[in-house]
Amino acid sequence: MTSSSPAELAVLAEGLEFEYPAPRRILALKGVALRVPKGEFAAIVGQNGSGKTSLARCISGYLRPTRGTLRVADTEVWRLRPAQRATRVGYVFQNPDHQLFRERVWDDVAFGLQNLGASPDQIQESVEQVLRRLELWDKRELHPFQLSRGDRQRLAIAAIIVMRPQILIVDEPTTGQDMARSREIMDLLARLNHDQGMTILTITHVMELVAEYARWVIVMHDGRVLLDGPPRQVFSRVEELRISAISPPPVARLGLILGLDPLPITVPEARDAILRRLSV
Ligand SMILES: Nc1ncnc2c1ncn2[C@@H]1O[C@H](COP(=O)(O)OP(=O)(O)OP(=O)(O)O)[C@@H](O)[C@H]1O
Ligand SMILES: [Mg+2]
Repeated sequence: MTSSSPAELAVLAEGLEFEYPAPRRILALKGVALRVPKGEFAAIVGQNGSGKTSLARCISGYLRPTRGTLRVADTEVWRLRPAQRATRVGYVFQNPDHQLFRERVWDDVAFGLQNLGASPDQIQESVEQVLRRLELWDKRELHPFQLSRGDRQRLAIAAIIVMRPQILIVDEPTTGQDMARSREIMDLLARLNHDQGMTILTITHVMELVAEYARWVIVMHDGRVLLDGPPRQVFSRVEELRISAISPPPVARLGLILGLDPLPITVPEARDAILRRLSV
């Protein structure tokens, strides 16, 4: 992971600091060090206020770092105009309603491409493709607020991925959704990652989903990266996780108690490890 050259990295941060301006002047990022290779599916976790959204907004170019290095797709993204940023990195807000503001589903998806100066034919083709892919085509004439919460979440993602960003950041897409809906969203992100090679950074508090979908986990604590690595490795670092108030998925906790090695982090893995243990 750390050996990747800058050109192969989706995100490179060193000593990254971000301070919200006066009057509050809160130092939200206090020296973040991070390397995320292109094509990775990473989850950013950490307790409330640890800096996940601030980091995501810096990576997406909405916030300009106060100090330190931040390169996204080998560029200082905050220097770019929004239309230039959009093909490099897309950020889906935690609350999709903060991002949907047109009269029709179709218009919300077309908006970004219109800003990029795409031709009407290109817009027609790309919007149709994305709406079909996200199963929103039949709802294209509806007002976004006529959609269910799950459909609005997918629409917010559609409005970003239609611009084909290299990196997609999705801030807490599973909050307020049941496990079935949360899995649908994670499945969609996994397909974008697999089929289009899109680098995915998702923020979530649901560790079962991290274990099932992410290949890299970034644990934020008090404005810094406390720990990062593959989920199995991160979920075995119990002491550090305690500092950040993160509890590994229940099957991983069971595996730790039973001393299972390698540590199972999903239910099928735990079943196999326990059956193996019983058969010897
Ligand atoms: N607009 C803002 N102005 C000033 N301070 C802010 C602002 N947004 C966040 N902060 C502060 O920055 C710090 C990091 O907040 P941030 O929203 O990045 O955390 P988070 O990990 O995303 O939390 P959550 O899990 O609650 O979404 C916190 O101390 C927070 O109070
Ligand atoms: Mg947040």
